[in-house]
Amino acid sequence: MADNKEYWEILKQRIWDILDFDPSDYSDRFLQRRIDSRIRYLGLKDYKEYAEILITERKEAKELLRNLTIHVTHFFRDMSMYDFLEKNLVPELIRTKKKMVKNPIIRIWSAGCSSGEEPISVLISVLEAIKNDIDEQFLSITGSDRDPNTIKKAKRSLYSTFQFTETKEYLLEKYFKVYDEENFMLKAEYQKFLTYDTEDITKQIVNNLDIILCRNTVIYFEAETKLKLYDRFYDMLNPGGFFIMGKTEVLLGPAREKFEVYDHKERIFRKPVTIK
Ligand SMILES: C[S@@+](CC[C@H](N)C(=O)[O-])C[C@H]1O[C@@H](n2cnc3c(N)ncnc32)[C@H](O)[C@@H]1O
Repeated sequence: MADNKEYWEILKQRIWDILDFDPSDYSDRFLQRRIDSRIRYLGLKDYKEYAEILITERKEAKELLRNLTIHVTHFFRDMSMYDFLEKNLVPELIRTKKKMVKNPIIRIWSAGCSSGEEPISVLISVLEAIKNDIDEQFLSITGSDRDPNTIKKAKRSLYSTFQFTETKEYLLEKYFKVYDEENFMLKAEYQKFLTYDTEDITKQIVNNLDIILCRNTVIYFEAETKLKLYDRFYDMLNPGGFFIMGKTEVLLGPAREKFEVYDHKERIFRKPVTIK
């Protein structure tokens, strides 16, 4: 279907207008794969027919948005990164911050947080690192996702057992309560550290951050969009702050020169403590 050039451009414009989703951030290959599969599923002929359906069928517009924003995630995805966070990164961050202020506040942003498994895994890792010796003022974690449904789920904090395959048993018991036979819920006393926003991370600004996680979220973005985003992440971090990417992702553009590599294997970068 990729040969239907004229209607492809019309369809992209329509996706932007109707779904409030900017297709120019994504590669055509990615978009076409997703849309072609919807066209096949609906038994339509081409992009022209699909563009018409998008106007008349609200349900299809929602389904397409769901397909374009894949939400796959689970607790402690890539476990070794969370171990590193708990044992190395958080202690180092606190040491650095305590040299500057007596009672530091740690501010973390999970950009592309899906239904909240990533920010909660980070929260648990930080609490374990500091042996739960904290007060509410000490820590603030924001999760953002452009899909309102995932944010709704995140705010509810109710998770099926399948989401915990990489979670250590004692952490599950410590931080979650049994909700019913198939689900666990984050205990109320931990929810106060988390806030969630429905936002497009390419436009959102969150300042004075100590850690930014943006993992498995921008893989389908155009190179230009990624490059600008990484540069903005650099600006949003405090000196000595950390940027954590997905295991298969590569840092591009000017940010590559500005960040220091903190741990190559875990894809962790650091903004220099002293900026030249
Ligand atoms: C595959 S999930 C990754 C979740 C988590 N970071 C992880 O690694 O497990 C990617 C999420 O990014 C969100 N996303 C994609 N593009 C986005 C954008 N421009 N702004 C905000 N969220 C976005 C999707 O809605 C999806 O929930």
